[in-house]
Amino acid sequence: MKKETQQFSYEIYTSVDELPAEDAALVLKARAITKNAYAPYSHFNVGAAALLNNGAIVTGTNQENAAYPVGICAERVLLSTAATLFPDMPLQTMAISYHNEKGDNSHPVSPCGVCRQSLLEYEDRVHQPIRLILSGLTGDIYVIQRASQLLPLSFGKGDLK
Ligand code: THU
Repeated sequence: MKKETQQFSYEIYTSVDELPAEDAALVLKARAITKNAYAPYSHFNVGAAALLNNGAIVTGTNQENAAYPVGICAERVLLSTAATLFPDMPLQTMAISYHNEKGDNSHPVSPCGVCRQSLLEYEDRVHQPIRLILSGLTGDIYVIQRASQLLPLSFGKGDLK
């Protein structure tokens, strides 16, 4: 028997003012775009903004549905939009934030399991890691170097060979 350990480190900033200007701008875009979320059921409005290698910024918001499982997270809306507008263009950084109408807004949001799988596929497909910047409207901001770090021992296209 042998044991393996998986670990990763991430950066914690205490406010947007501590971030490099380009990252700060992306976080502010993610926060601002939460106003376009359609979240009448959860009242949890998520916004995502990504900087692509070509300099374009693509945004996404969660879009819910009365049939709850039909709803789509902001991150996957963003990835689908990016792939449609700019096929094969890698994403450098994605900022994700939220406005919780009924509760706390001061801790970082982290992508759900389904979104982690989608982010992993995107990294694979364009051969470039996606940096993540996770925040609420206030409070700590986490910077993670590659989205796939959030999904260790993942299943991916390599498994289908
Ligand atoms: N949601 C996202 O859009 N992204 C996340 O990272 C977490 C959750 C959405 C799904 C649903 O519309 C609402 O937030 C509450 O779960």
